[in-house]
Order: sequence, then C-alpha cells, then structure tokens
Amino acid sequence: MKVVTTITEMQSEINRQKELGKSIGFVPTMGFLHEGHLTLMKKARQENDIVVISIFVNPIQFGPGEDYETYPRDFERDLELAQGEKIDYLFHPSVEEMYPHSSTVKVVVQERTDVLCGKSRPGHFDGVATILTKLFTIMMPTRAYFGKKDAQQVAVVEGLISDFHFPIQLVPVDIVREEDGLAKSSRNVKLLHDERKQATALYRSLQIARETIENGERNPINVIQLIERHIKDETSGIVDYIEVYSYPSLNRLEKIKGSIIIALAVKFSRVRLIDNVMMDVN
Ligand code: PAF
Repeated sequence: MKVVTTITEMQSEINRQKELGKSIGFVPTMGFLHEGHLTLMKKARQENDIVVISIFVNPIQFGPGEDYETYPRDFERDLELAQGEKIDYLFHPSVEEMYPHSSTVKVVVQERTDVLCGKSRPGHFDGVATILTKLFTIMMPTRAYFGKKDAQQVAVVEGLISDFHFPIQLVPVDIVREEDGLAKSSRNVKLLHDERKQATALYRSLQIARETIENGERNPINVIQLIERHIKDETSGIVDYIEVYSYPSLNRLEKIKGSIIIALAVKFSRVRLIDNVMMDVN
C-alpha cells in the first residue's frame, strides 16, 4: 500500500493506473476506521483492480461548536487496518493541501438537505459535496463506496454524481452492526458505559417500526410516536429527530408507500447517534 499526501502525486498515480486500463474503487473516509469502513473496502477490493481510500477529516463539513477538534483520529491504527484490506493507495492530505487558500468556489446542495441531519447542521452537506467534488476530480474513480448509515449523505452524493455528470458508479453498502444491533460508528467510543447499553434501543425501535409497517400501519405519525416512546422508555438520550420520508428524494409522506426511510438521531451526553432502516412498501 502506498501512502500519498499530495494531490499531484495522487493524480499522477491515478493517471498511470488509468493508462493501464485499471478500474478504480474509491472509499472516502474521515479515518478512525471501523468494521463499517472495512466492509466498504472489502467490497471495493472485490469489484475493482485498484482500491484507493482517503483519510481526511474535512473541516468545512463541521459547523461551529461541532466536534471537528475532538473527532477521533488514530492514523497508525488506520494504516494497519487499511494494509490488512490490501488497499493500493491511501490518500492522506493535510488541510493545507486540500484547502491551500480561502476558497473561491464551494458546492451548494439545494435539495435533500433541509431534513434529517441537514436540518440541524446547516452547511454540512455543502462541505461534504465540496470535498467530494475535489476528491472525485482527483481520483476519477470507476466506483465510489458509501455506507447506508449516512443515508442522507448517500442521497446527496447520488444528486452530486448525477447533476455534475461524474462518470462514477455510486455503490451504497448496507449498515454494519455490532452483535447487539448498534450501528458501527467512529463516534460510538464517546458513549458512556450505561449509554452504550441503552443505545441498542435505537435499532430495536426501528425494527419495531418496520414490523408495524409490515403489519399494515401506514400513518407516519403513529410510527414516529411508537419509536419515540420506545427510545424515551429505554434510554436517557434526547431525541433529535425521528422521521419517515420517501427515499432518496427525502420528501415528507402523508401515507407510507413506496421506497421509504425511517431515520432517527438521538443525543447522548457526549455524542449524537444516527441510525435508519429502508424498506419498500406496497
Ligand atoms: O462520511 C464521511 O466520512 C464523510 O462525510 C466523507 C464522505 C468522507 C466526506 O468528508
């Protein structure tokens, strides 16, 4: 595995591989790799000649008062994990390399952002779309891999790729969970001992919601109330949102029908967790 820190070197490696006719699988990350990331890498490894991952904690997708400074980082551990997945290139630029001067252009996402996490994180998806536009331009990947845990991010990336005509196949990958159901996340380490136990209620509440819909419930308000009651009974967390939307357009629903997402965010004392399930409803 080659670690690359400059854009120029990364581009010349990519150009070389492209000239050799190689397909390129790209997994963008902010590091502190966990099994969710490793699953993306494994899938990329199976489907491409060359696999590139990026590790870059992108400052412009964090708002004021968010956890940019304290976002978990452990590059040495990440390096070992990436090596274990037989990654070809690890791109690890500095902030100065990615943002050498105050930006003249940024990407503004106009739809799919005023709901779910986007609602309480104004500008977050502009930051994500801006860094991905840069990374896609540098990597020119054949396929790009994203976890469905950040379902709103997947919806935004789908729009970015389609609107900007990037010749990239978006590959959304299923959520990887701990044995007790908690969705894997770099931020789980911030849960206090008791909160870690309580956090299993998030996925459980989504499963209860799914079962209720499978049994015929079609009113989103009833589903939301059911989830809220379960989380309030089982955890000390504070519900940020619980929503049922069409997917990937993320529109509010009068009646549950079609391709939908049930998504939630719950704040614990030091960390806010998100989770979701998606389903097709007749
Ligand atoms: O999902 C993430 O880790 C980030 O939002 C991404 C896609 C790497 C962009 O910084």
